[in-house]
Amino acid sequence: MIKSIEYRIGNALDLDQVIELYRSCSLGGRRPVDDRDRVRAMLANANIVVTAWDGELMVGISRAISDFSYATYLSDLAVRESYQRAGIGKELIRRTQLAGGTQATVILLSAPAAVDYYPRVGFERHDSCWLIRGDQPLR
Ligand SMILES: CC(C)(COP(=O)(O)OP(=O)(O)OC[C@H]1O[C@@H](n2cnc3c(N)ncnc32)[C@H](O)[C@@H]1OP(=O)(O)O)[C@@H](O)C(=O)NCCC(=O)NCCS
Repeated sequence: MIKSIEYRIGNALDLDQVIELYRSCSLGGRRPVDDRDRVRAMLANANIVVTAWDGELMVGISRAISDFSYATYLSDLAVRESYQRAGIGKELIRRTQLAGGTQATVILLSAPAAVDYYPRVGFERHDSCWLIRGDQPLR
């Protein structure tokens, strides 16, 4: 792990810095980074946001929603491309898990680029995950 990386918890972040961080790695192509209001809401309504910093540069983010007693949904995990594979992603998850508490299971949907990452750091695959889009009517 890079020794000089500082971790902070909290969502009082500069929106442009967050958007720039998403764009600095492949997650930028998978999140609505061109819709500032949407990203602003994503940030404001998340209740566990952990960021990694190299001085004034934001180099990683974990954005999660937790009830702090049963489930923590880890929605976004992103590490600036030039800082990847240095232990930052794992530390962001560890701090997110810690903030959610020992009774909360961390749940996520992996981006295709990270499907081999999560088992590597200890996640187990769940084969009955289901989702329905917000605009998709129930049958
Ligand atoms: C996936 C991601 C968050 C991983 O963060 P990271 O800081 O680069 O990873 P870490 O340094 O914590 O890696 C921990 C271990 O997993 C390995 N690893 C890292 N990325 C991996 C990948 N994509 N596939 C498989 N293994 C990977 C590392 O080599 C390391 O192994 P080691 O402990 O044997 O040295 C980061 O690469 C990223 O932001 N990718 C682009 C966005 C993305 O896909 N995010 C996930 C959205 S669900």
